[in-house]
Order: sequence, then structure tokens, then C-alpha cells
Amino acid sequence: MLSHFPLLGLLILGTMASASVVIPHTHPLIYFHGRWDSSPGTWWAGSGFKLHVNNLKSLNLTLGPHTTAPLTSVGVSLDYGEFITANISEGANAIDLPESFIAGEKTGTTVVRINVEGWQNNRMNLESIVLNEGASLVQYIPSDLVFQFIGDSLSAGQFLPKGVDQAWPFLVGEAFKAEHVVNAQPGAALTDIVSYGNEHGVSFQFFRTEDTGYFYTTDHNFTTPWNFARDKPAATHLVIHIGANDASQNVTDSQFVEVYTTFIARLRTIYLGQPIFLFTPWGWPNPDGTVNQYYEGQYEKIVDLRHAAGDENIFLVNTTGWVGWDDVFPDNQHPTVPGHVHIAEQFQAWLENRGLHPRERWATQ
Ligand SMILES: *[C@@H]1O[C@H](CO)[C@@H](O)[C@H](O)[C@H]1NC(C)=O
Ligand SMILES: *[C@@H]1O[C@H](CO)[C@@H](O)[C@H](O)[C@H]1NC(C)=O
Ligand SMILES: *[C@@H]1O[C@H](CO)[C@@H](O)[C@H](O)[C@H]1NC(C)=O
Ligand SMILES: *[C@@H]1O[C@H](CO)[C@@H](O)[C@H](O)[C@H]1NC(C)=O
Ligand SMILES: *[C@@H]1O[C@H](CO)[C@@H](O)[C@H](O)[C@H]1NC(C)=O
Repeated sequence: MLSHFPLLGLLILGTMASASVVIPHTHPLIYFHGRWDSSPGTWWAGSGFKLHVNNLKSLNLTLGPHTTAPLTSVGVSLDYGEFITANISEGANAIDLPESFIAGEKTGTTVVRINVEGWQNNRMNLESIVLNEGASLVQYIPSDLVFQFIGDSLSAGQFLPKGVDQAWPFLVGEAFKAEHVVNAQPGAALTDIVSYGNEHGVSFQFFRTEDTGYFYTTDHNFTTPWNFARDKPAATHLVIHIGANDASQNVTDSQFVEVYTTFIARLRTIYLGQPIFLFTPWGWPNPDGTVNQYYEGQYEKIVDLRHAAGDENIFLVNTTGWVGWDDVFPDNQHPTVPGHVHIAEQFQAWLENRGLHPRERWATQ
């Protein structure tokens, strides 16, 4: 009798295994975007993955020990619908799907998009994806329009309930039906100095896999070079909005211009000819309608210097007047959820005026 127990155990295990489809993180049809370390785990708000799934009825994520404890918040979007927050942790995480999926009424393929929302507590260590029996991955074809955004808190969605998923860069990417990667670090200067808890500036950190949170991390207190060949497809458009924290740290006008032009020259070793859109600051709005500005005239100078160096594909985006008191939280003057929508709309109009229009449909439907 005893000898039958192991057999029974095997039988049950076998039945359970066949009931679900385990997709290891190495599966070639997982479309990763943003910055992932080798564990593999995310850094920087907005990093994540996309799946094109046939016959989806259930979705679990199995996460490893490098996942932020007690949880990390991710946005989950099905078939390009709204991103809904899911809090996930080390171990098995069931992702809620609408009843139509569970009941099998939804047929055909589904596009699943999942990304970390936060600029901190944003580590998702993906071991595997567990799908229902009969589900399979099919090819996800990325958009041929790819935005790379670079910035600070004003681009990272700091103070927003859904973080970067509600921030203007993400909204612009969505509106254009584009791929979009955001490397934005709250508190960081462009200059490589310590600023508001950031050990490095963005002119250093952008070239690393990890965001500056690495410095406060016990299991990964180091940075590694980012292999830009992993950005597939490569960015087609670069958008940079930075300088607020340099100004707060008293980086002088001439130092800022020097750091910024050097940064762009380094970007040009990766992004040889792509258009670069350089935002002037929209400034810090006040209740009386005035706006505190910084580095006035300096962004023009940076663009002019690049033009003089033969780099014609760099454009100043004059954001003066884009953000008023009504667009910001009164206590920190960062854009609110509708404030970010307002900014995204203005930048979209700016791009459309210059001939860049949203794609009519997503590349994967
Ligand atoms: C996710 O966790 C955060 C932080 O604990 C919490 O504020 C939020 O309500 C949670 N959201 C969901 C959808 O569970
Ligand atoms: C999915 O995760 C939940 C825990 O959140 C677990 O109870 C369930 O067994 C998992 N399903 C599969 C198929 O792994
Ligand atoms: C990470 O290492 C640096 C030294 O390189 C140290 O100053 C810092 O305290 C460390 N952080 C943690 C969380 O251990
Ligand atoms: C920047 O300069 C102002 C005015 O001189 C000073 O009050 C402030 O402490 C300085 N800030 C830093 C970070 O050096
Ligand atoms: C930016 O726009 C403002 C308001 O329209 C204008 O006063 C300013 O001269 C513009 N700056 C540049 C560099 O074009």
C-alpha cells in the first residue's frame, strides 16, 4: 500500500502541471522594455514587458527574491485598455482578469502590458509567467515609433497615484501608439552630483541599468553598464526635460550648458541621428499666476551649440506657459493627474504641428 503513495503524488503533480502553461523568463516571445538587470529584475519607473497571448483565461506571475518587499506596484493593461494597478510580491501572484476572460467568452489573442509604476520600490524580479492550460504566446510586434524620455520627478510621475503610468511621457507614448521608455529620476540633477538622495546625476545614471535606488539596496548595491543593444527597437525619438535639480543645487548656467552639451554628444554615440527634443522648463507656478524659472536662455544656447557642431536634428520645445497653478499640487508644484494630461496634449500638438502623427493602430492588435 505504502508503495502506491509516491505514484499517487506524481499523478496529482502531473495533472496540476498540465493544467497550466509555465513560461520561463527566458522565453523569446516575452517583449521586455526598459531596464532589466540579469536576475532578471526591473529598475526605473515604466520598465516592464508585453505579451501577446492566445486563449488567455488566467495569468500568474512568479516573482523572485529581488522583488521589492513587501510589494511593488505594476500597471496592467489588457488590449490597450486602461492600466490598472496590481500589487505584486515575491512568489505567486494571480493577476485579476475580467470575467469575460475567465468564462472563456473572450476569444483569440490578447495583448498584455505590465510595467512598474514607481520611481522607487520598483523591482519586479520575474521568474516565470503562468498561463491557463491551452494558452500560448504569439509574436508581439513592437510599434515602429519608439520614444525615449529622459528626466527627473517632473517626468517620472512622482506624487501621482499610478506613478509614471499617469505621467506625460507615458501618456504621449500611448497617444502615439508608440513604444516608450522613460528614464526619469526624481531629485536627480543632470550634473553628476549628489542631489536629494541621488548618489549620481542623470548624465551618469542614464548609461547604467539601475536607477539611483541601487544605493539604498542591500541585495544589489552597485550599477552595471546598460547595453543599449537591448533596446529593441532602438528609440526613434528622444525627449529630454531636465535641469530643475541642477538649478536647486546651484549648478551655474555655464556649468549646466557644458554638462548638457557633453551629455548630448554622448547620446549621439548611441542615437546617431534621431531627433532630440529638448524641453525648456515650464517652471514652478505660483498661486499669483507668476512662474519661477531657471536657466533662462540656457536651453537655447545648448541647442545652438549643437547646431553649430553640425547636429541639426535637435529641437527646442518651448514649454513656457504649458503649466499653471491649476496644473500642480499646491504643496510641491508638481503636475497633478490632469496637469500631466494637459502637458501631454500640448506636446502632442507640438509634435503634430511638425508632422509627427500618432500611428493609426498598434502594431500588434
Ligand atoms: C497597492 O499598495 C499601495 C501601497 O501599499 C496601496 O496604497 C494601494 O492601495 C495598493 N493598490 C492596490 C490596487 O492594491
Ligand atoms: C496563482 O497564484 C495564486 C496565488 O496568488 C495561487 O493560489 C494559484 O495557485 C496560482 N495559480 C497557478 C496556476 O499557479
Ligand atoms: C551602498 O554602498 C555605498 C558605498 O559604495 C554605501 O555608502 C551605502 O551605504 C550602501 N548602501 C546600503 C543600503 O548598504
Ligand atoms: C544655493 O544658493 C542659495 C543662495 O545663495 C543658498 O541659499 C543655498 O543654500 C544653495 N544651495 C545649495 C544646495 O548649495
Ligand atoms: C518661449 O515662449 C515664450 C512665450 O510664448 C516667449 O516669451 C519666449 O521668447 C519663447 N522662448 C524662445 C526661446 O523661443
